[in-house]
Formats: sequence, structure tokens, C-alpha cells
Amino acid sequence: MKKYLVIGNPITHSLSPKLHNYWIKQNNIDAIYDKKKLNEDELYNLILDVKDRNISGINVTVPFKNSVIPLLDELSDESNKTQSVNTIYLKDKRTIGHNTDIEGFENAIKKINFDFKNKKIFILGAGGVVPSIIYASMKMNSSEIFVSNRTSEKAEKVKNIFNNIKLVNWGDVPDFDVIINATSLGLNQEDKINLDLTQIGKNKLFYDVIYNPTETNFLKKAKKLGNKCENGKLMFIYQAFSAFKLWHGIEPSINNETIRLLD
Ligand code: ATR
Repeated sequence: MKKYLVIGNPITHSLSPKLHNYWIKQNNIDAIYDKKKLNEDELYNLILDVKDRNISGINVTVPFKNSVIPLLDELSDESNKTQSVNTIYLKDKRTIGHNTDIEGFENAIKKINFDFKNKKIFILGAGGVVPSIIYASMKMNSSEIFVSNRTSEKAEKVKNIFNNIKLVNWGDVPDFDVIINATSLGLNQEDKINLDLTQIGKNKLFYDVIYNPTETNFLKKAKKLGNKCENGKLMFIYQAFSAFKLWHGIEPSINNETIRLLD
């Protein structure tokens, strides 16, 4: 039986095992997908387990998406550019790091029939997932990308990777078509983002990477202002879809049942 893992710290709330095991069963694959809480000093031995074929694949989540990079033999172009790995596998005896968050975001946007072409994108946050969102937004031909983060040094680091983006002071609001919350503000029901969005007009897309709670205050406020809203659930499902396809060579099904599985 093949073994797959999601690693992170904390990891208790990860829904990856539920989704992957559902697809594994549906496709009659002889495998199991588990979760493991790790400390950074345990990463090395885990990657050896991939090399020794004890583990067939690993998903990586916060806070290891970047720190796992030096331990791998090779990176995909997407992982290299974003300096972020969320999927690991073995190919020709070499450990490969890939980033399916990019495709996850792109497919989620496609699924809701929104076109990023020539749109101005305003991203809040500069954490782990932001380079992937920028990469995907560029791929989808957005016209401008603004990034705003409470700690400006972290926003500067993102600009070092993508020098075309524009940095915005935390609290300021540029003219935009799409606003994306990629901060952890909203994970707690009472969290509020202090931005004055009364002047932005209607029919913008408000996107929250968070999907639990289903509707953050950020999305609630957007709805009241008459905008289109979407949470991060489809992005989560599609990043898992791409990892599954990479490991098993099968496109798993995504339908209402899959979506309900994560409620
Ligand atoms: P990491 O920074 O380890 O990658 P993350 O969950 O991916 O973790 O990122 C958290 C993001 O939420 C960061 O952009 C963080 O801003 P800072 O860089 O200033 O810490 C943002 N964030 C978390 N709490 C916040 C708060 N109370 N106000 C504003 N931004 C917050």
C-alpha cells in the first residue's frame, strides 16, 4: 500500500486527508493519505523516506513550503519562481518539489467564470500563499498587481521576487477590480480588516483565501456593498486535484458531493 502525507505545524485542521482518501477510495487505489505534525528538524528524514520509497508523496503546508526547498533534488519552474513547494514526489530517483497552489487558484477563478485579463488585482498579505497568487494572476494576464502588508519588510521580499508589482501602504486602498484577502485575518469569526472600502464602487470580486469560516467579515462586508464574493474552498480543492493527478495519473472528480465533503 502506497503512503501519502500532508505535513505542517499545526496540522490538526487540515482537510487534505479527508479529500485525498475520498478520491483514493473512489478510484480503487491501494493507498492511504495521513497527516503529520512536524518540527523543522524532522524534515530531512522525511524527505529521505520519499527517496527510499517509504512515502510516495507529500503535501506541504504552513510553515514548511519554503524551508523544505534546500532538502529537495529539483524544483519545478513554478516552485522555483515562487520559492514555494506544496507537493513532493519522486521521479527518476530524484525528489521533486512542485507548487499546485498556482493551478489551484487559477482553476478556482476559471470555475466561477471570472476573467482576470486586464484587471487590477489588490492582494492583502505577504505570507506563504501570496507568491502563488501573484504568479497565477500574472499568468491570467492581469494588468496590475498591488500588494499591501502590515509588515512592509515582508512585502518588500515579495517585490524582490516579482519586481513588477506595486506595494501599497497598509491601510491604503488603490483602484482595483479584484481584492484578495491572503492574510490570516478572518480565521477567527470576530476578525476585522480595517480598510475603508466605501468608495470603491460595486461589481468587484472579493476573494478570501480562507474557507473556514465559510464567510469571513471581509466577504460579508463585500456582499453588503454589492460585490461578487468567493472563498478559498475551490482553490483548496483544485490544488489537491493537481497533486492527486500528479501522483496517481488520474483526474479525480469534483462535484457537489466533493464540495460538501469539506463543510
Ligand atoms: P507566514 O507569514 O508564516 O507565511 P501566513 O499565515 O501565510 O504566515 O501569513 C500571515 C499573513 O497575515 C501575513 O501577511 C501577516 O502580516 P505580517 O507579515 O504583518 O505578520 C498577516 N496578518 C496576520 N495577522 C494580522 C493582523 N492582525 N493585521 C494585519 N495582517 C495580519
